[in-house]
Amino acid sequence: QKDNELRARQHHEEEISSLPLHEGWRYLPLRLYKGFWFPEFILPGVLSLRHHLRPTSSDILLVSFPKSGTTWLKALVFAISTRNPELLLSRHPQDCSPNLEAFFAGPHVPDLDALPSPRQFSTHIPYSVLPKSVHDSPCRIIYLCREPKDTLVSTYHFVIGMHRPEAAPQQMPFTEAVELFCKGLSMYGPVWEHQLEYWQESQRRPDKVLFLKYEDMMADPEAIVRRMAEYMGKPFSAAEEMNGMVGEIVRLSSFEKLSGLEINKVGLWGKEFDLGHLAIKNSSFFRNGKVGDWREHFTAEMAERFDAIARDKLHQSGLTH
Ligand code: A3P
Repeated sequence: QKDNELRARQHHEEEISSLPLHEGWRYLPLRLYKGFWFPEFILPGVLSLRHHLRPTSSDILLVSFPKSGTTWLKALVFAISTRNPELLLSRHPQDCSPNLEAFFAGPHVPDLDALPSPRQFSTHIPYSVLPKSVHDSPCRIIYLCREPKDTLVSTYHFVIGMHRPEAAPQQMPFTEAVELFCKGLSMYGPVWEHQLEYWQESQRRPDKVLFLKYEDMMADPEAIVRRMAEYMGKPFSAAEEMNGMVGEIVRLSSFEKLSGLEINKVGLWGKEFDLGHLAIKNSSFFRNGKVGDWREHFTAEMAERFDAIARDKLHQSGLTH
């Protein structure tokens, strides 16, 4: 068994090293796999889970393009599922549902059967790259979409802050980040194709994919929490509504609440990885949590360039930002 795992791992490493490489994001090398740019360090996990993941019908998969509000989604789904939002006071939302590709990136295939049901996983893998076992399974997907301009701003701050204390800070002009992002060169990019794939699947199979937008969640979080609970097969009872459960979940999952907690301010994410010069601080999942922060960073030309790409790629899809 161990020999097989080792052989498969070596085989994957050879495959990964033959994929196109891009080092524009400094300490975060990307490799092109099946039309999307993946962080190199996560690809062993992607390849492994494509072979081994066997979802059950009760699994819930939380999916997003990185920096779209995954942390918030994890907190909300965890609180809805446990009906105990106070647990968020002592647990980083990233630890509420394991990231699948990170889980599978270790030396051994993880034993997912040991996890309590209903299992909640997260992933950033595009729909077309998910294994057939997920496509064919009745397991449910909740996809969180965010306006690409805000997603880039969030990505930019996240990546340039992602260095070890002893490593030199990464100098990268924002204009360069815009250039790369528009070409699809960013973690799991291009963003438009990523969103479109899940959008189209949600149109085809609304029972399979619940498609949510960060901006709608900000505008009316309680309405979205009710939608999520129904989709998860856990609607709020009249008694829970009376007790203010929905409001409590929203309050304890809010940016203001979570970003102020000590547990979310200290420590590192992904300590099990060899990230080279990279270090991902737990605090880096919280920056300012605003809609429209791109206005502070974009020139009119940059915004028009993004909007033109969206018009071109999302044309007639029904997906708007
Ligand atoms: P900003 O960088 O724009 O502030 P992800 O969780 O996918 O990595 O996305 C991170 C983004 O979600 C960051 O955006 C972060 O501030 C924001 N975020 C984190 N927790 C949030 C919450 N509880 N509510 C709203 N936004 C949140």
